[in-house]
Amino acid sequence: MKLSKERIIKYLKNPGEIRPDCVGEVDSTNTIVKRKGLSGEPEGYLLVAESQTAGRGRLGRTFVSPANGIYMSLLLRPSCSPAEALRITPVAAVAVAEAITALSGRRAEIKWVNDIYMDGRKVCGILTESVLRTESEGLSFAVLGIGINVSEPEGGFPKEIIDIAGAIYEYKKAPENFREQLIAEIWNRFISMYRDLSDSEIPNRYRALSMMPGRAITVLSDYMSGQGREATALTVDDDFGLIVRYADGTTETLTAGDVSLRFKD
Ligand code: ATP
Ligand code: BTN
Repeated sequence: MKLSKERIIKYLKNPGEIRPDCVGEVDSTNTIVKRKGLSGEPEGYLLVAESQTAGRGRLGRTFVSPANGIYMSLLLRPSCSPAEALRITPVAAVAVAEAITALSGRRAEIKWVNDIYMDGRKVCGILTESVLRTESEGLSFAVLGIGINVSEPEGGFPKEIIDIAGAIYEYKKAPENFREQLIAEIWNRFISMYRDLSDSEIPNRYRALSMMPGRAITVLSDYMSGQGREATALTVDDDFGLIVRYADGTTETLTAGDVSLRFKD
């Protein structure tokens, strides 16, 4: 069944805050919502697509976006500082992981900083893109994009992500209205945290969902060159930095955006 805007609205706690629009196939919901932001659309516009032909991840990577998923972007006009706005991605990760677990009954975990995993497979990626106001360097608006694999696409995942990707429902169809319920549950949780991004409970909720502690990882500070350094992930601090320990015993706090991570086990 196709996504229904009316059903999403029915499940939203505060329907006035999110204005959903459902479409079939688009290039990228982030690209379209960015255009909306530039033309003055107010905060709360949400575009949800059935599929994307040019879904984007971080660092110019592709997010494969076939039917049976959720591809959505929300327009935000945060009144906070640009530094505080950096919390939007981790806050969205908490909202997505908690919502998936609440509705599916299976544990969803966060791979620092912007991916959601279930049983060792990536089921969701989050990409926040900010547009700055040049005169003041303040934040003009942000586009928060979330892509979720709800059930496996027909014919399975394509070769390039077959070893990485998973779906919330691997071997069966999602229950009726699941996508609309999940969309609403994510935004219900996100909006309550977005109202106070500096709430000290949010990092605790993030840490409770983090799959990082104790994991052996490769830290790629230059993703394109593939140059990496072996480390053990320790924990995530209150600013959502990842603290890692290298083989020589030194520790470092990694900031999102600077690095890519690969699991070694
Ligand atoms: P990091 O952010 O640490 O670099 P990452 O490898 O997950 O980790 P991202 O830019 O967050 O990198 O995500 C893009 C990657 O996600 C792609 O390179 C691809 O490996 C994977 N990917 C693309 N489409 C999907 C999908 N539908 N489901 C799961 N994974 C996907
Ligand atoms: C990642 O895995 O690095 C982030 C992927 C983000 C994908 C979502 S799908 C909806 C929105 N539109 C895009 O082009 N990207 C985001």
